[in-house]
Amino acid sequence: MKFSTLLTILVLFSTPIFTFGQTNTTHPLPELLVSNSGKKIKNVSSWEKKRRKELIDLYETHVYGTFPKEEIEIRHEVTSTDENALGGKAIQKNIIIHFIKERDTVKADLLIYLPKKVKQPAPLFLGLNFFGNHSVHLDKNIPLPKGFIRDNPAFYIFNNTATDKSRGVRTNRWSIERILDRGYGIATMHYGDFAPDNPTKFQEGIYKLLAKEQLKNTGAIAAWSYGLSAAMDYLVKDNSIDNNKIAVFGHSRLGKAALWAGALDERFAMVISNDSGCGGAALFRRDVGEDIEAINRIFPHWFTPEFHKYAEKEEELPVDQHMLLALIAPRPVYVGSAEQDVNADPYGEYLSLYHANPAYELYGFNTLPSESLPELNKPLLSEMQGYHIRGGAHDMARFDWESYMDFADGHFK
Ligand code: GCU
Repeated sequence: MKFSTLLTILVLFSTPIFTFGQTNTTHPLPELLVSNSGKKIKNVSSWEKKRRKELIDLYETHVYGTFPKEEIEIRHEVTSTDENALGGKAIQKNIIIHFIKERDTVKADLLIYLPKKVKQPAPLFLGLNFFGNHSVHLDKNIPLPKGFIRDNPAFYIFNNTATDKSRGVRTNRWSIERILDRGYGIATMHYGDFAPDNPTKFQEGIYKLLAKEQLKNTGAIAAWSYGLSAAMDYLVKDNSIDNNKIAVFGHSRLGKAALWAGALDERFAMVISNDSGCGGAALFRRDVGEDIEAINRIFPHWFTPEFHKYAEKEEELPVDQHMLLALIAPRPVYVGSAEQDVNADPYGEYLSLYHANPAYELYGFNTLPSESLPELNKPLLSEMQGYHIRGGAHDMARFDWESYMDFADGHFK
């Protein structure tokens, strides 16, 4: 082989993927550190007191909608505690969260496993699940969910109802034993308890408690995020959990909800997005994967109706998703992508995290070094940011979990 041919091969294989022919954005991104009135945000104080609030308002008005949480009273009822769960490895707790407004109530089930080997209060991951708490593990002591579940014949879910046969159908995405072995607790709830994922039924969950008038400017993601914060109200009070070390995570649409919850609720000490894509970590201003028109057409109930106005007009949206990730600063944030998950635009997910740099720099942190996507399966970390692109498809795989736990070890241990 000629030396020049060898050199070409070496260069080709050592170049990070996606750097060829990728336009970074189709339009310039809205300025993160310039206030609505055009003032440069130069320090933490004006970021926290002014710009953060402006951005949250913009997101509420144009993207996710508002959730009037002041209207609802929350009570937590611990219905069972098993000190010897999973063959002695874990403490299992089941909690019912009661949402109350005047005479109406709605319930959600919160399932918690804590590692028995950790004597002090344990750090914990909190995330929503797609098919009911009983889908995350075969443990027979997990109560069957009573609420609306999306039909899935392969998972034995018919007529929107859970069955015993659907126990453990999603264990592949929930490495519960491994998480416990690594010294973390894990907590989960079914997202349908808050808003059934269905365009005509999404207002039959928590939204039942609100007046019609209040439902005009909101969507299902806002309810899922609210659910995560309602669980947090319990978790911070439980002495067996380290309330300064609770990470919120989510896969795909539930990653969108986790990011929005993490942006709003600063009690979450770490935020993890797995393959969250459009409306999650991915920038809107790119011509790759799902866009605003498609997501609103297929899932008209996820966002506030105002968001639909930006179909084919992403450049007019006053925010882009680097701002959502910046709202998590100064707390650690990790974005996981998958190579074949083109719909979620992996490079757009990376670019959001990169363009959130200036918010972290206000706090004096070292940030991501460049716009180049890292190599496959090689997590890239800055002081407070983490990113990887895993080989394979849209999923929450073992590699993702191990990377998130390594990142958490770095910040929590
Ligand atoms: C669809 C949708 C995505 C979403 C995903 C999921 O693919 O287009 O936006 O993230 O479902 O939640 O699995």
